[in-house]
Amino acid sequence: MSHHTINLTINGMPQTVTVEGNQTLLEVLREQIDQTDVKYGCGTGECGACTVLVEDNKPINSCLTLAATMDGRSITTVAGLAKGQELHPVQQAFVEDFAIQCGYCTPGMVLKSVALLSENPEPSEEEIRHYLEGNICRCTGYAKIVTAVQNASKNMVQYAGGDAA
Ligand code: FES
Ligand code: FES
Repeated sequence: MSHHTINLTINGMPQTVTVEGNQTLLEVLREQIDQTDVKYGCGTGECGACTVLVEDNKPINSCLTLAATMDGRSITTVAGLAKGQELHPVQQAFVEDFAIQCGYCTPGMVLKSVALLSENPEPSEEEIRHYLEGNICRCTGYAKIVTAVQNASKNMVQYAGGDAA
């Protein structure tokens, strides 16, 4: 089996790890870097629990990504979103709008929503539902998640507008 030594930046912290050629990014994040906020759901690209953001908020399923292909990349997990004690506006909205029940889908759902809002700051309900289609939630029925994304969008747009004024 081939080994590769790769450099990753995880939530702003440089990490050097030796990985097998067939190891997924999800395995490496959870087992070698102890980044257990990234969840293992299906392992086959169906549920979105393992979502992480690469570079500029590009969401990927880490269960389908070979770790060796990520050499030199910056990766954000949900643990990297808060600034100190201050939650990211999307996390804050998920809490305030009761969009979290068992919480298993939440890291992936939050990261995917961050990616959506960075591409499209004011998505319609339909756009939100469409973008989050690859993220499965077995608890909430999705309505509260959609509301949370809408409220995060409002807060972020207002905040950005306030900055510009
Ligand atoms: Fe990766 Fe389900 S664990 S998509
Ligand atoms: Fe339980 Fe979404 S809150 S799976």
